[in-house]
Amino acid sequence: CTDRTFVMIKPDGVQRGLIGDIVSRFERRGLKIVAMKMLVVSDSLAKKHYEEHAAKPFFPSLVSFIKSGPVVAMVVEGRNAVPIVRSMVGATSPSNSSPGTIRGDLALETGRNVIHASDSPESAKREISLYFDNSEIATYKRID
Ligand code: CMP
Repeated sequence: CTDRTFVMIKPDGVQRGLIGDIVSRFERRGLKIVAMKMLVVSDSLAKKHYEEHAAKPFFPSLVSFIKSGPVVAMVVEGRNAVPIVRSMVGATSPSNSSPGTIRGDLALETGRNVIHASDSPESAKREISLYFDNSEIATYKRID
């Protein structure tokens, strides 16, 4: 099982001290963190990451928010990692995200929704390559 997805704890999640809670949820589910780093996203990286939203009215505020402080970028691995992580993250709008999900437990606003996760295997591949070199992604066996 080598399905991989890209996850980012956004500046609000880092500033609120939620890194440990969020990483712990993935670990307890049995997913593997195979890459992780803290960084401040540059303007060009922010625009590339969110290029599919370039025409949306919220694009400028989305880009400036994502650059506003350190984020934690991760590659998370496991069978069906993309849909499983999306289900753990919850709906984009916190008013639709169920309790028990990361956004349902930790977020109140669409623009400050704590976490990003890839929505398809194709976007996972693209987003992983934007943030990580192959050499930064670890290979290890989960201890069963
Ligand atoms: P994310 O999963 O990172 O992908 C796109 C982001 O756009 C989404 O989370 C939201 O944070 C943001 N977004 C979507 N809709 C809106 C909106 N109406 N206003 C502000 N931000 C939005």
